[in-house]
Amino acid sequence: MSDTQALKRRAGESAANLVEDGMVVGLGTGSTAAEAIRALGDRVDAGLDIAGVPTSYQSRELAREAGVPLTTLADVDTLGIAIDGADQIVGADLVKGGGAAHAREKYVDAAAERFVVVADPSKTASVLDHPVPVEVLPDAKPVVADTVRNLGAEPSLREAERKDGPVVTDNGNLVLDCDFGELPNPGATALDLDAVPGIVEHGVFPSMADEVHVGTEDGVTVEYP
Ligand code: A5P
Repeated sequence: MSDTQALKRRAGESAANLVEDGMVVGLGTGSTAAEAIRALGDRVDAGLDIAGVPTSYQSRELAREAGVPLTTLADVDTLGIAIDGADQIVGADLVKGGGAAHAREKYVDAAAERFVVVADPSKTASVLDHPVPVEVLPDAKPVVADTVRNLGAEPSLREAERKDGPVVTDNGNLVLDCDFGELPNPGATALDLDAVPGIVEHGVFPSMADEVHVGTEDGVTVEYP
């Protein structure tokens, strides 16, 4: 395991330890959330009684492998906690969607009573400046690209690494990575993007994190922004 993955594991295990018997847990996507899912699987093996709501094909398959029982938002009254990674973190503001799962992540993370972000130290910053992943309906790509240019961003269609052509999300859509430079007011950027027809969801998660667990060489730091 790489040094960075070991830090992600620390963060994931720390968040998984917050989960209590009877809880429904939002299962985030990405390499750090994966560590939390594996840690939850170990706790289920030891007798913990929970159900998980996956945010992607990846997190659903991983939860199945780890032995975490699954459910859906439609089948539960409350989602006690969601554990998810992030691409960049400034306080409670996040940019997400590096794995193109931000549409499902956003409504699951928002539905949780407690949204816990897990990360390695490279994800924390003093100002958000990560390109914003924007999931678009395929036919809307040209008009959405024009609109985000008018909002001051440079959009770039995300290409698949091991396939010819673009990344297609779990929902059958495309992703435009939109470089705004710095995002001094993430809430305003989120509102701008919310209003664009053809955008299914974007990766600005303003004021959403309740807790941030960062794995470090010495342990785990926990912030309550
Ligand atoms: C998935 O679309 C993303 O929002 C991930 O949660 C984010 O990219 C963090 O992934 P890592 O933990 O792999 O960095």
